[in-house]
Amino acid sequence: MSNSDQLIIFDTTLRDGEQSPGASMTRDEKVRIAKALERMRVDIIEAGFPIASKGDFEAVQAVARTIKDSTVCGLARALDKDIDGVGEALKDANSARIHTFIATSPIHMEKKLRMSADQVLEQAVHAVKRAGKYTDNIEFSPEDAGRSEPDFLCRVIEAVIDAGATTINIPDTVGYNVPEQFGLLIRDLLERIPNSDKAVFSVHCHNDLGLAVANSLAAVVHGARQVECTINGLGERAGNAALEEVVMGVRTRRDVFTCDTRLDTSQIVTCSRLVSNITGFPVQPNKAIVGINAFAHESGIHQDGVLKNRETYEIMRAQDVGWIANRMVLGKHSGRNAFRTRLEELGVDFSSEEDLNSAFASFKELADKKHEIFDEDLQALLTESSVEAENDRIKLVSLKVCSETGETPEATVILSVDGEEKQACANGGGVVDATYQAVNEMIDSGVDLQLYSVNNITSGTDSQGEVTVRLERAGRIVNGQGSDTDIVLASLKAYINGLNKMLYPVDREHPQAADV
Ligand code: KIV
Ligand code: ZN
Repeated sequence: MSNSDQLIIFDTTLRDGEQSPGASMTRDEKVRIAKALERMRVDIIEAGFPIASKGDFEAVQAVARTIKDSTVCGLARALDKDIDGVGEALKDANSARIHTFIATSPIHMEKKLRMSADQVLEQAVHAVKRAGKYTDNIEFSPEDAGRSEPDFLCRVIEAVIDAGATTINIPDTVGYNVPEQFGLLIRDLLERIPNSDKAVFSVHCHNDLGLAVANSLAAVVHGARQVECTINGLGERAGNAALEEVVMGVRTRRDVFTCDTRLDTSQIVTCSRLVSNITGFPVQPNKAIVGINAFAHESGIHQDGVLKNRETYEIMRAQDVGWIANRMVLGKHSGRNAFRTRLEELGVDFSSEEDLNSAFASFKELADKKHEIFDEDLQALLTESSVEAENDRIKLVSLKVCSETGETPEATVILSVDGEEKQACANGGGVVDATYQAVNEMIDSGVDLQLYSVNNITSGTDSQGEVTVRLERAGRIVNGQGSDTDIVLASLKAYINGLNKMLYPVDREHPQAADV
C-alpha cells in the first residue's frame, strides 16, 4: 500500500476512551488492551496522558515497553512539563509519537486559555519544537478546530509543520460539525496550507450529534489519511468515532474510498468484548458491527433470503469481524498447556509462572462449576483477577444468603477492611439488595448506586453472570465489575470493586483543563 492508499488507524481507547466517566483503567488493563490492539494491527496506540498522575505515567510507560509492532503515543498539552513527561514515559518504546495540542477556537482561547491568537500560535510552535527534543514523530492538534476560524487554523498549521509536526490532527472536539462541512474543511486546509504535503492530515471526531463516524469518513473522502477512533466508540461525553465502524465502512465501500487500513478485522469482536469487559461499559445489542444483533436475522423473510444468498441482507461477513471465530472450548479436563495456548492465542502472555499458576487455579475452580469454558469466560477470569488485585483494602471473605418464598431475603457478609474482619447481616427486597445493605452497614461510603446491570457472558443457566455497577459520590463516577456463575456473588464482587475505586481514588489531571 502506498502512503496515499493507506488510512492510518490511531486508537485512543486508552486515552480519550478512558475519559468516559467511570472508564478508568489500571496499568495492567491498559497493557492487555494495548496487546489486543497490536494484534489487530492498529498503527498507533495513544496510551494515555502521562502528566495526569503517577498511575497514568506508569501505564503509558508499561505500554511503551510492551508493544513492539504499533507506534505508542502519549498526549501532552502545549506545556514543557507535559511534553517532557511524555518524552520520558515513551523513552523505551520501539516507535514513539508525541501528541501535543492547544485550543484554537475563539471561545476556548478567550474563555478557557485567556490567551490571544498570537500567543496561542507561539505556544503551539514552541511545543512542537520541544517535542522534537525527543522524537521526530510529532502530532499537533488545534483543539476545537471544528469551531475555529479557518484563516487562523491555516496560520497555526503552517507554522507547526514548519516547526516539525508530521501529523496534523483536526479535532471536532465538541461534536458540532456535520459531514459535508467537515469534509470540506479538510479539503480546504489541504489546499490552502502551502506545506500541507509535509504532514499527514488526521481527524478526531466526537459523537455529540451522533455524527462522529460520518464526519470522519467525509474527511477521508476529502484527503484525511489518519482517523482517531476508539473501540466501541468509547470516549468523553457521547464518545469518539467507533474504530470498528470506520474500518468496516472503508473496507466495505471500496467503491467510495480510495484507501484502506492494514487492520486484521477478524480481531474486532475480541477487542470489543475485552474493552467492554474491562471498562464495564456494555455494548448495545443493535450496535453496528459488534452488537450481538449486528448479524442476527429475526424476520422470516430475511432469514429465508440469507439462506438462499447471504448478500441479500448482509453487506459484510460476520467472520470477517470475528464473530464466528474458532472458539476452542476448554473444560474440566483441559491441562495447563491447552489453557496457556488458548490465552496466548487471545493475546495474553503470563509474565511469570506464578501468574500462570494462579490463573490456572481460578480456571479449574470455574471449570468445576461450568462444563464448557469459552473465550469470553477466559477474558472475564483475567479481568476478575486484575479486579481482585485492586481490592487491596476491602476484600470479600464470605457471603451467605437466605431466600425462601414468603420470607424476607437475608444476607450475611464478611469483609476484610484494611486487614480487619467485619461482619454484618441485613434484609432487603431481594438477595442482591440484602447483600448490598449488609455491605453498607459495614462501610459508610455515601455512594449512590446509579446503575446495576447483569449480563450473561455466554449462554446457558451455568453461564457466568457479569455484573456492572455505577457508583456516584460528589460528582465522581466509578464503575465496578464482578463475574461469577453465582450472580449474587458476582453482584457483591462488583460492588466491592466499585467501592475500592471510589474510596481510594487516584488524583488525576484532565487533559483539556486549562493550565497555561
Ligand atoms: O477532543 C479533542 O479535542 C481531543 C484532543 C486532545 C485531540 O481529545
Ligand atoms: Zn477527544
